Amino acid sequence: MKVFVTRRIPSVGIELLREHFQVELNDSSTPLSAGELKEKVKSCDALLSLVTDPITADVIAAGQNLKIISNHGVGYDNIDVAAATSRGIAVTNTPDVLTDATADFTWALLLAITRRVVEGDRVVRNGEFTGWDPLFMLGADLVGKTLGILGAGRIGTAVGERSVGWRMKLLYYDHKTNPTLEAKAGARKASLKEILQEADIITVHLPLTEQTYHLIGKKEFEMMKPTAYLVNTARGAIIDEAALVEALKTKRIAGAALDVFEHEPQLTPGLAELNNVVLAPHLGSATTDTRNKMAEVAARNIILYFQGKQPISIINPEVLKKRKI
Ligand code: DGY
Repeated sequence: MKVFVTRRIPSVGIELLREHFQVELNDSSTPLSAGELKEKVKSCDALLSLVTDPITADVIAAGQNLKIISNHGVGYDNIDVAAATSRGIAVTNTPDVLTDATADFTWALLLAITRRVVEGDRVVRNGEFTGWDPLFMLGADLVGKTLGILGAGRIGTAVGERSVGWRMKLLYYDHKTNPTLEAKAGARKASLKEILQEADIITVHLPLTEQTYHLIGKKEFEMMKPTAYLVNTARGAIIDEAALVEALKTKRIAGAALDVFEHEPQLTPGLAELNNVVLAPHLGSATTDTRNKMAEVAARNIILYFQGKQPISIINPEVLKKRKI
């Protein structure tokens, strides 16, 4: 069996795969083009892809022997799951192992924007710090404020649990009730409208789907408090970035902190010129331990599949009944 790995990943994943399969690796940090991916997929039985690889219906159709696509990431909006399922191809991902790292990074961004950490760093480096001043660079307190969580899955829940130390009022928007968040952090399920109107900080933890694309746009920014902040460590296109630039420019909202972008890695014009936004290069899961675990889970998903066992995390389990090994 042959596995193609689309880009460099932590070596623990490659070593594990090499114990079981013939492994071909695109040993570079540059993503392959759609044409290159199609070429590579032709000769492999398994594909280990990254969240930056568009695994389209075309790419999938080129994989005549392809049996499993193992995504190195929890999000899988880069994969046409319906196309894979219709061909009996399993799609797996790496949830859980990155929950804490991503929740921690969400809080890093949340604190960075409300307390103007990155802006302050720029001020100091530019020689604009001339001494302590009672009115200089004032930010916003968190204690007692309302945190609105959009998407109370694993990461949203971990972000909410961390808010207890700030004694925040917690509202969450999700189709499901979250008893853990309610019991541990006193959270209350609310409508999107209520969160937009009430929250002092809104943090996004939804998957990118047709339903969540541009969930936050001009109309939603108009509903938010002018003192509110928006944090996004999920997927860029959940926010209409052009509308966000406008909302930040006109101070319709106080600020935003983004780890993900609508046209990643490109930025919407105007975004980088603004001081009331913190921009991070998709670092939510970027700790050594977490990335090692993600590589291991992505490799184990493939190994388990070919051993006839249940992968650690499968998106379309219905295909397992027709497993072709
Ligand atoms: C994911 O896993 O979906 C993140 O975006 C990258 O770790």
